[in-house]
Amino acid sequence: EAYFQGKEILSGKKILITAGPTYEKIDPVRFIGNYSSGKMGFALAEVCAERGADVTLIAGPVSLQALHPNIKRIDVESAEEMYNVVVDKFPNMSAAIMCAAVADYAPEIRDEAKIKRTGDDLLLRLKPNKDIAAALGRMKKTGQVLVGFALETNDEEENAWIKLNRKNLDFIVLNSLQDKGAGFKCDTNKITIIEKSGNKLVFETKAKKEVAADIVDVLNMYF
Ligand code: CTP
Ligand code: CA
Repeated sequence: EAYFQGKEILSGKKILITAGPTYEKIDPVRFIGNYSSGKMGFALAEVCAERGADVTLIAGPVSLQALHPNIKRIDVESAEEMYNVVVDKFPNMSAAIMCAAVADYAPEIRDEAKIKRTGDDLLLRLKPNKDIAAALGRMKKTGQVLVGFALETNDEEENAWIKLNRKNLDFIVLNSLQDKGAGFKCDTNKITIIEKSGNKLVFETKAKKEVAADIVDVLNMYF
C-alpha cells in the first residue's frame, strides 16, 4: 500500500491520455459537441505526471490548463483528428487511458460556407466515427495497458463488461450516474472499476483528483 504511494513510482512509464469532448464541424461556425469538461482526463494527467510518468495528453476543445512539466499536450478538435494522433503515438506508450467523450457520429458533409436560414427543414446526415479505444485494443502489444471509460444509463455493469471485451481493455472505469455529485461538469465523481478478470472495485464519491489517484493505483498493478 505505502509502496504505491511513493512519489516517482511511474518514472520511465509513458502514458497517453485522451480528454474532453470532440467537436464535429457542420459548417465554419457550427459544430456538434457534448458537455464533457475534460476535468477527469486532466486530473489523470496530473496524477500520472506527479508520480513521474511521461504523459502525452490528447485534448479535445476544453478550457483547462495542464501545467506539469511531465505533460506534453496535443490539442485536437474532431474525433478523426484525435484518432490520427492517438494511433500514431500508441506504439511508443506503456499505457493509454481513454477518458475523452468522443463523438460517435459526425456530419457526412461539412459545408464550406455558413448554412443559411431558409425556413425549410434541414436534414443533417451523420456518419459513424472510428472507435479509437477499439483500434488501440487491436494494436495492443504484450505489456501495454489499455484503460477505457463507460457512461451508461441502464444495465451499467453489464454494458461496461461488454464494452471492456469489445474494445480489448484491461479495465474499464464506469461513471455512476446514480449519484448527484458525479459526471459531466462536476468536480466529483463516483466510479466502479471492472477488470478483465471480472474483478469489481467500488469507490465512494470523491473529488476528481482523488478519483484519478484511485484509477492510477489500479493502473500501477498492471505494470
Ligand atoms: N471511445 C473511443 N472512440 C470512440 C468512442 C468511444 O475511444 N469513437 C472510448 C471512450 O473514450 C471510452 C470508451 O470508448 O473510453 C467507451 O465510450 P462510450 O461512449 O461509453 O462507448 P461507445 O463504444 O461509444 O458506445 P455507446 O456510446 O453507444 O454506449
Ligand atoms: Ca459513445
